[in-house]
Amino acid sequence: MTNKLFLKLCLIIALSLVIVFYLLNLLTSKTEEGMSYLSSTDKQTLNSWGKQAEKLYLSGNKKSLDNWLEIKQKQEDTWMVVAAFDIENIAGATLKSEYYKGYNLGRNVNWKIHLYFDLNPVMQMPFSDKNTSLLVYLPNRMRPGFYWQYTQITLQIIVPAILLIFLSYLLYRYIMTPLLKLKVATREFSKGKFNVSAKKLMGNRNDEFSDLAFTFDQMAARIGEQFASQKQLIADLSHELRTPLTRLDIALDKENSLPTPSENIKRIDRESKQIRKLVEDTLTLAWLENEQPKLQQESLELVDLLDVLIEDAKFEFPNKSIISHFPNTAIVENSSHRAAGQALENVLRNALRYTPVGKTISLFVSEQENEFKIKIIDQGPGVPEKLLNTIFKPFFRVDSSRSADSESFGLGLALAERQLAAIRGSITASNGKNGGLCMLICLPKN
Ligand SMILES: Nc1ncnc2c1ncn2[C@@H]1O[C@H](COP(=O)(O)OP(=O)(O)O)[C@@H](O)[C@H]1O
Ligand SMILES: [Mg+2]
Repeated sequence: MTNKLFLKLCLIIALSLVIVFYLLNLLTSKTEEGMSYLSSTDKQTLNSWGKQAEKLYLSGNKKSLDNWLEIKQKQEDTWMVVAAFDIENIAGATLKSEYYKGYNLGRNVNWKIHLYFDLNPVMQMPFSDKNTSLLVYLPNRMRPGFYWQYTQITLQIIVPAILLIFLSYLLYRYIMTPLLKLKVATREFSKGKFNVSAKKLMGNRNDEFSDLAFTFDQMAARIGEQFASQKQLIADLSHELRTPLTRLDIALDKENSLPTPSENIKRIDRESKQIRKLVEDTLTLAWLENEQPKLQQESLELVDLLDVLIEDAKFEFPNKSIISHFPNTAIVENSSHRAAGQALENVLRNALRYTPVGKTISLFVSEQENEFKIKIIDQGPGVPEKLLNTIFKPFFRVDSSRSADSESFGLGLALAERQLAAIRGSITASNGKNGGLCMLICLPKN
């Protein structure tokens, strides 16, 4: 299980949130800084008041200075005062005037004004003597940062909200895009396009979604294969059924029927048995292919099983000899008696059928470290090299004219291969050096 998507989302969310909030913080402090100074017109006005007051002060006409201050205070709805510092020496040496020149009672017009104070600041416009100043309680109309509160709400609530909505949208798209592609693939699949490639639709993406697409493709391909093989199986079965059904028709047709009714019944019985076997084998094959069952419920004694099969075969094919080289015992664990028995019987019967009268079939069982190897070698015609794998396909016969043969449907080896797979075994065919077919079956011991 990979955590690529989790890591990607973590990275996107963490990184973008850190960047967004860092930039917002920067923007807020820069904006606050920008809004914390008097406008140049207000600075000019204050300075010109300072000059005016100084002029009146220097003229020595205190009354006109008072009048002027009175008028200005009313106009601006504030208070103003012309003040000077007077240092009183209490004890010790006399403090020289240069040490207290420029002592501040108010703020310089160029200084920053902090927006979070409720009261307006007192502005100080010093006169040329540096000791006297005009002090003005800053009129409301000049107070900077008038829109600061709205700006603050915008920067700290509205802008982050918009950015987070945008980020959520991007994340949503990031997750929805592959889901929509999967949806497209699923729709194609539902239309019967089993070779659809959801992984290709994902492009270069490499995370849980592309893993899911890969699994989807595997599923689609597997279902596609199953569907095709089922279709093929049904087509083959219908084709194979025609021959025994035609023969049944003939047997039932009065004109073509055999002279005695009992012979006719025997013929009908034979055909119906053949039809039954054909259908049963096909159904077993379909089951083995679809379910791919694991038949591992019992242990079996391979030598005993082969002895029983050989006994039956000798009875059925008395004019062919069988020689066997077996160890004393060969116990296979977690297996299925039925599956192994049917598979071995099919292979043994083939060997006997294709071996001419008077010839021999040899059976060997050898014990390896983890498995038993069973060889069944006959003295028949063998199989053309290029068809050695094809003989395991359902309904395949090297000599297709044998389809009329009552026993040959071409299902035996297909069944054997899948039955052996169900008990974790395998089967391969090769031609012997002196002709004849050699079947090698491997069965794991455990
Ligand atoms: N021992 C053998 N010698 C020669 N040909 C064989 C042998 N076993 C199988 N074959 C070939 O493989 C085909 C498939 O075998 P199988 O699946 O058992 O079908 P069936 O026996 O019903 O024909 C046979 O039709 C035959 O042509
Ligand atoms: Mg067969």
